[in-house]
Amino acid sequence: MHQLSSLKGRSLVEPEDFTLEEMELLFSLAEKIEKEENYLRDSCRGKLLAALFFEPSTRTRLSFEAAMLRLGGSCFGFAEPGSSSASKGESLADTIRMAASYADTIVMRNPKEGAALLATQYSTVPVINAGDGGHHHPTQTLTDLLTIKRLHGNIENITVGFCGDLKFGRTVHSLAKALARYNNIKMIFISPSELVLPEYIKNMFKKQNIEFTERENLEKSMPEIDVLYMTRVQRERFFNEDDYIRLKDTYVLNTEKMAAGKEKLIVLHPLPRVNEISIEIDADPRAAYFAQAKYGMYVRMALLASILGVLC
Ligand code: CP
Repeated sequence: MHQLSSLKGRSLVEPEDFTLEEMELLFSLAEKIEKEENYLRDSCRGKLLAALFFEPSTRTRLSFEAAMLRLGGSCFGFAEPGSSSASKGESLADTIRMAASYADTIVMRNPKEGAALLATQYSTVPVINAGDGGHHHPTQTLTDLLTIKRLHGNIENITVGFCGDLKFGRTVHSLAKALARYNNIKMIFISPSELVLPEYIKNMFKKQNIEFTERENLEKSMPEIDVLYMTRVQRERFFNEDDYIRLKDTYVLNTEKMAAGKEKLIVLHPLPRVNEISIEIDADPRAAYFAQAKYGMYVRMALLASILGVLC
């Protein structure tokens, strides 16, 4: 029996659904898959993944599909709701019932907070949350944690700076909550006052005595940070275009700001990026966001193999 057999048949709605030990085992499995080209190849032959994307995606959808194909399984689904019967008024519950009757697992992105949890209530197969509005994005968190582990060596005793849209950024919400479970993590939340971290997360951290500060200045914070998590100001979450235009270029990571950073700094970004990281930074060895996106495929391979029970 593989140690990850506990994940067989389980859904993933938010990072806390898995124990730290389960996540560590997933990271070890992802590392093995990365290093041994044929490891688990064809292990999911005959298995089907339904990819239901009610919002645009490049990395999450393509890396899930690549992961399933590399494991020998197959994928079907839609990349925008206009091509599904949701556009004719079908409820999410009915769409999920259908997909669950055709597939062995479902990965879903939806603009509504709580949609993934709702999907688990109507699905007879595991549901993986690929992002529900401004709420959670747990497989991005697995990707982020694996990247920190691989590039920093471990996930403890670090200062993590989150910068940009911390209000609507589901990747920030999921990663910050996940990091709070590790030892000696300090978090610095850098944002304009309009885009600060939601109160419910800050209250949770206060109750748990998690060390965090909120600031508006990125440049002055740079010397303290081990992992800088840049984020995009998300046009699609704003009600007002003028507010978006006013805030979208608040932070731009450029060579001057990087000069104030540590030698061993790691710069992450869930991507897509717009203007918040200058392209000149791509050549800096501390820029890890493209490597991060690749780790996402390996950890999604590990996740699919685990929940589909092919390791047992
Ligand atoms: N990181 C992420 O979720 O990227 P996509 O929106 O391209 O899937």
